Amino acid sequence: MPGWPAAARKAKSLRPRSLAARTALLMVAALTLVQVAGLTIHALDRVDLQRLAQTRDAAVHAIGLYRAVALTAPAQRADVVNDYDGGEGATAVLGDMSPQSNLPPSSPALQRQIRADMQLVAIPQSQRPADIVLLGGPLAERLVVGFALPDGTWLNMVMPMPPPRPWHSTAFLIAFLVMTLAAALLTLWMVRRLIAPVATLAEAAERLGRDVNTAPLPEDGPSELATAASAFNTMAGRIRRLIADRTFLLTAIGHDLRTPITRMKLRAEFLEDAELQRKMLDDLNELQAMVAATLEFGRDIAVEEPARPVDLVALMRTVLDDAADARLADEAVLTYAGPQRLVVPARPLAMKRALANLVTNAVLYGGCARVEISPPAGGMVTLTVDDNGPGVPEEALEQVFQPFHRVEESRNRETGGVGLGLPIARNMLRAHGGEVTLSNRRDAAGRVLGARATVTMPA
Ligand SMILES: Nc1ncnc2c1ncn2[C@@H]1O[C@H](COP(=O)(O)OP(=O)(O)OP(=O)(O)O)[C@@H](O)[C@H]1O
Ligand SMILES: [Mg+2]
Repeated sequence: MPGWPAAARKAKSLRPRSLAARTALLMVAALTLVQVAGLTIHALDRVDLQRLAQTRDAAVHAIGLYRAVALTAPAQRADVVNDYDGGEGATAVLGDMSPQSNLPPSSPALQRQIRADMQLVAIPQSQRPADIVLLGGPLAERLVVGFALPDGTWLNMVMPMPPPRPWHSTAFLIAFLVMTLAAALLTLWMVRRLIAPVATLAEAAERLGRDVNTAPLPEDGPSELATAASAFNTMAGRIRRLIADRTFLLTAIGHDLRTPITRMKLRAEFLEDAELQRKMLDDLNELQAMVAATLEFGRDIAVEEPARPVDLVALMRTVLDDAADARLADEAVLTYAGPQRLVVPARPLAMKRALANLVTNAVLYGGCARVEISPPAGGMVTLTVDDNGPGVPEEALEQVFQPFHRVEESRNRETGGVGLGLPIARNMLRAHGGEVTLSNRRDAAGRVLGARATVTMPA
């Protein structure tokens, strides 16, 4: 079948994505199947019962009328038959032929039953029917009965057999619906309960990605989950140790480099060639700055400043004032737009360092810094820092978040630092559950207007 793979793909794409939804769907489908089967069995049973009751009724009526006719003198029999009222659709006639109908004969069980019933009725032996014809299959809407009277005439009757109504009982249907609903709700609740620890594990993994120092998972619950939680905690511990070792190594090297650098600077002072001395000292100063930044980086990671409510706007104003004080730029090119107060949970020192670097970058590489804070939306606050500089080459937009990565033009010491500002900012914001990205602002013609740093963080 050519359409089959496409249909299978479509069915796959319609499948719910979460484990809880899939399990719930399967359980509810199974429940529906079981309920439908139960309902069918119940309906078939009711149909059987109703049929039985109908045929019994018909038999009683037919035998009753036969008895009345048989015990009446032949001349008055027509009147008795005419007076007969067997309910809607029921007819009875006297004739000289057995009933003419194309219905199949009734079931042998019914035939036997009527004959046995006939024996129980008080009729003299001489008046008992010479022959009995019963027509109407199990699903026929009529039952045709013919009795041959001893004198050769036939009493033929048609009894209506309305189709059985298996769904007639409203009480049953309501009870059934309530039961199904209760079972479905119970299933959903159960699935949620059972799946919840998996979601917790996924959340913990997500949190660990943002902050290696998150609290360990509780190692209780069902044994499989407890094992998974314990394995997860072990893994988190190893990651923490690995990072701590690396950071320690980094700061140790930085620390040990300081003395030789100082020594070399002293030695450079004795160089006779002034040009060479200047170049040498420049390089050594750069090296010293990198070492200092590295040490700071290590310290930032090691320090665990507690998060508390911080007014982001006040923090931003301090950062802008500091930039103005440092005479990085005129106050006119440092602007802020947004609410007057916005409290967010944050580690104030770390947050300040991250934002200060974004502002410093904008001023150094873009000539100005226009900060804008948007009010919280969807639980996140967005902050942008725009400048009017050359922007960042597209291919470097992500790379500049790598430690020590600097775009070539800014390699001179006057404009830049060592290339740790953005990685530190991203590290810190991610630990807050936020993010920082760089992009280029463009006009309609696609020309770059400047760079934009976008920060998001939980409100
Ligand atoms: N607003 C910007 N416009 C243009 N280039 C930018 C901008 N912001 C950052 N960059 C580029 O990204 C590089 C990395 O920035 P980052 O802040 O990490 O380091 P740095 O400013 O060079 O040094 P540090 O911040 O450690 O003193 C910068 O050297 C610069 O080339
Ligand atoms: Mg910087």
